[in-house]
Amino acid sequence: MRLPDDVAEAARMALGGGEIRHEFAWMSWAGTVWRLEGESKSIYVKRAAHLDDERDRLEWLKGRWPVPELIGLFHGFGDDWLLTHAVRGVPMNDRSITWDGPTTATRLGEILRELHSIDATDCPFGGPPERGEVLVHGDYCSPNVLVENGRLSALVDVGRARVDSPRIDFAAAIWSLQYNFGPGFAQIFLNAYGTPPMTEREIERLRRSYSRR
Ligand SMILES: Nc1ncnc2c1ncn2[C@@H]1O[C@H](COP(=O)(O)OP(=O)(O)OP(=O)(O)O)[C@@H](O)[C@H]1O
Ligand SMILES: [Mg+2]
Repeated sequence: MRLPDDVAEAARMALGGGEIRHEFAWMSWAGTVWRLEGESKSIYVKRAAHLDDERDRLEWLKGRWPVPELIGLFHGFGDDWLLTHAVRGVPMNDRSITWDGPTTATRLGEILRELHSIDATDCPFGGPPERGEVLVHGDYCSPNVLVENGRLSALVDVGRARVDSPRIDFAAAIWSLQYNFGPGFAQIFLNAYGTPPMTEREIERLRRSYSRR
């Protein structure tokens, strides 16, 4: 794996020198993510065309939501490179998490209610909130929700976080639940979140509205 010079230098500094092992983490339509492991800590390197939105959110969300600590944003080889410190926990869809559909739906709902309850009055991304609007994650699916000991440990992929309707995150959660467990868990999720039940038609319309752009 070849890194632009300033990215390699920032990674070395963040990892405190010594030997660096790298591991491929994830490839999506938009980019690639690597995990770099030093002697005693690890960082993540995300490469994609535009990551300034994610950098801006990481800065604003710090202390509000549990998000990775930013190392820096760099530009090289025609792309943006976002470096963050590794957070604790594993994604909710990790093999080591053995929760069934109802448990996952309940946890996703409970966690989302917490996330949506923070004060978004001063949020520069789409704020201030109008009636019913909250701070949404913008891609609230299992791989972006990390857990440890059964509890939320961190949120990643926050580049689309903004003030908007909570339905944006309902759509991603319901889509993700059906992708991982098949249909039938949306009602449990909505109930755990604390929003009134929806008809199956409404749920399906919401699920189909999920879009990662
Ligand atoms: N700082 C971090 N600490 C721990 N794990 C991370 C960190 N950053 C990324 N990851 C892991 O890498 C995976 C991919 O990262 P991320 O979600 O940011 O990229 P992506 O899904 O490809 O982004 P996009 O949806 O913008 O294409 C995450 O699901 C998570 O498992
Ligand atoms: Mg992601």
